[in-house]
Amino acid sequence: MKNPTPIVEIAATGRFLPDNVVTNDDLAKTMDTSDEWIRTRTGISERRIAPDGLTAAEMGASAARQAMERAGVQPGEVDIVILSTATPDRWLPSTACDTQALLGCDNAVAFDIMAACSGFLYGLSMAEGYLAAGRGEIALVISAEKMSTIIDWDDRTTAVLFGDGAGAAVVRRSNGSGRGILSTHLRSDGRLANLLYRPGGGTIDPLSQGVLDEGRHLMKMQGREIFKNAVRNMAEACDLALQKAGLTSDDIDLLVPHQANIRIIEATAKYAGIPMEKVYVNVDRYGNMSSASVPIAFDEALEQGRIGPGSKVLTAAFGAGLTWGAMTLRM
Ligand code: UT7
Repeated sequence: MKNPTPIVEIAATGRFLPDNVVTNDDLAKTMDTSDEWIRTRTGISERRIAPDGLTAAEMGASAARQAMERAGVQPGEVDIVILSTATPDRWLPSTACDTQALLGCDNAVAFDIMAACSGFLYGLSMAEGYLAAGRGEIALVISAEKMSTIIDWDDRTTAVLFGDGAGAAVVRRSNGSGRGILSTHLRSDGRLANLLYRPGGGTIDPLSQGVLDEGRHLMKMQGREIFKNAVRNMAEACDLALQKAGLTSDDIDLLVPHQANIRIIEATAKYAGIPMEKVYVNVDRYGNMSSASVPIAFDEALEQGRIGPGSKVLTAAFGAGLTWGAMTLRM
């Protein structure tokens, strides 16, 4: 199969990470865990935790400003702002609208998407569709996550895994350069929603003193089941995305996977046939930042020269929903 011609490309990326570093040893002071357990079971050594008062919109806007500066794009030129988050600043309006206001993207349509850890890939795909339909020239895809606000800090099985941060990409039409998104495979399975969810605080179980007292507004996860589904679905998505692009794993210069657990990353890479030297890993420094993990990893890989002009990249993600997917790109 011939390589498809990309319709849109990533013009530039950006990231924001809060300064506050929380190590495994810090966590072991307040909960029954250890640096050894967290490192060997997850690969995480530390994570960033945002201070009170720093919003997801502000983190997202910082990442987006960096991406826009690098792309040479002015706020008024942006046609669409797609923001993915599992931790909206408020239930109404969208965090995307708050971010749009902070950025001054006055000519843009702005809205949130909720696809948990897969949100950046879903966002890129939506931006591609919008631009391909001729509705605009420039999209901002932002992932901003303040996971620390939905973690149950008394639950060691989830509290040690997550961190805060934001990543962003300026997406524009490809103009025949050959750079851009080559293929996409996205899926969801709502039948497994209760493997990773927040039971209370929405319309099913509105916020009440009981919800707060019992912590039903906080994240619950069946870790082992999520683990199995993550590996199976990301591996299959990688295969299908490669097939759709007419590529094999040998063609890939770098795999940029969602950063949930080093064991999930290693298993996905193995199934995809990609050696670990060609896999970008930062889960050790940041933990799982939900949808912000992929764009932050992407941005670091670009900055470090692990990917550059002409590189072929495979990216994959998996999260609550369930949601998952993979994408191939030529940079
Ligand atoms: O972004 C997508 C969302 N999330 C994920 O992808 C996460 C997917 N799941 C995982 O990464 C792993 O399942 C975990 C890291 C969450 C757990 O690792 P595991 O190897 O599956 O451990 P486990 O849940 O089977 O627990 C093993 C033991 C248990 O003790 P017992 O029952 O064997 O005595 C747990 O209570 O480890 C215990 N444990 C801990 N011990 C120390 C669980 N969490 C901790 C902890 N510190 N933080």
